[in-house]
Amino acid sequence: MNAISRLATVISLASLSALPLSVLAAESKGSVEVVHWWTSGGEKAAVDVLKAQVEKDGFTWKDGAVAGGGGSTAMTVLKSRAVAGNPPGVAQIKGPDIQEWGSTGLLSTDALKDVSKAENWDGLLSKKVSDTVKYEGDYVAVPVNIHRVNWLWINPQVFKKAGIEKAPTTLEEFYAAGDKLKAAGFIALAHGGQPWQDSTVFEDIVLSVMGVDGYKKALVDLDQKTLSGPQMTQSFAELKKITTYMDPNRAGRDWNIAAAEVINGKAGMQMMGDWAKSEWTAAKKVPGKDYQCVPFPGTEKAFTYNIDSLAVFKLKADRKGDIAAQQDLAKVALGTDFQKVFSMNKGSIPVRNDMLKEMDKLGFDECAQKSANDFIADDKSGGLQPSMAHNMATSLAVQGAIFDVVTNFMNDKDADPAKASAQLASAVKAAQ
Ligand code: BGC
Repeated sequence: MNAISRLATVISLASLSALPLSVLAAESKGSVEVVHWWTSGGEKAAVDVLKAQVEKDGFTWKDGAVAGGGGSTAMTVLKSRAVAGNPPGVAQIKGPDIQEWGSTGLLSTDALKDVSKAENWDGLLSKKVSDTVKYEGDYVAVPVNIHRVNWLWINPQVFKKAGIEKAPTTLEEFYAAGDKLKAAGFIALAHGGQPWQDSTVFEDIVLSVMGVDGYKKALVDLDQKTLSGPQMTQSFAELKKITTYMDPNRAGRDWNIAAAEVINGKAGMQMMGDWAKSEWTAAKKVPGKDYQCVPFPGTEKAFTYNIDSLAVFKLKADRKGDIAAQQDLAKVALGTDFQKVFSMNKGSIPVRNDMLKEMDKLGFDECAQKSANDFIADDKSGGLQPSMAHNMATSLAVQGAIFDVVTNFMNDKDADPAKASAQLASAVKAAQ
């Protein structure tokens, strides 16, 4: 049985025996519980924008934040709530996982019908985005932003102290910078040893070593030959080298703590998606002056995307106020005001095509402007690829199998790159 039908069977059996708990206060206009994992300082500032707007519209916001970067803990909580027949009104769900949830019948294919038509979502969103959030042709989630994953964050003051003149553009320059940072007593590459962070680094390296076509074949198409081939072995060899630039005490460290090391001048660089910018923004730092954002060396012509979206669960028809609250949230989320303020806080770029074309005029900073330009260009060139590490490319089962191989490899000093690529291919096959 594949992952979709496994999840569908478990959930549909459980929901026969348990009904959703009504959390609605009788006199409330309607309430919406939102399960998400935006809990760092910068992320919280971003999600508070949505909360404030929904509350301003007269609805009650019930915060269902579940800590844990990358969202795997939130997904576990969500699954167990669904199995118990008590899903929230709205939850942060992304990529192909939306299709898995759609197939359980628990997402609402009705709630967003009117709002998506009235607000012309089909016209506002690029097809890659709208396809991701539709299930069998109906919107079941509202996309809130676009993150780019393949960024390198640099503290230029630290670079200067270590005698590094410019941001690296090749892996060789990256290693040379790392050597200088280490020699000057800095952590070269800030990193938290958690599986999703390890695989964020891994996918950047695959993209750098194998190019866009190789990345797609390996991590999107899951082609067995490419997964076990020589370029994958080469990617593991580079990963091994990159690991030597990380702090050995990184186990379990959260991504925002690693970001803080770069912000506070303890470390020189971090490989992380642009939610890392939310921490720089929260610390009142300015891009181009206090920090630099550059594509990870060797990935300039590519954009690994990660679309945050909020999926809407089916509620009983008599919960009219709560359904209205879901619809209000969806309407707000794609409105221009929210799209701007949310992404400015979150480090991302808007999902609306009209806004992506005028980022400068809207007051977005240089990192966001570059991201939007590259998103548009890479969409045309084929360089726009879904991020494996951020649930956009594969099922969560396949992603979990990749995470295990990568993290075990990084934690074993004696691990062999050729063996790792063979393991990767067989782990992926078993999880499919
Ligand atoms: C999400 C971001 C979030 C990051 C860290 C990513 O998978 O898409 O919204 O900020 O994880 O938790």
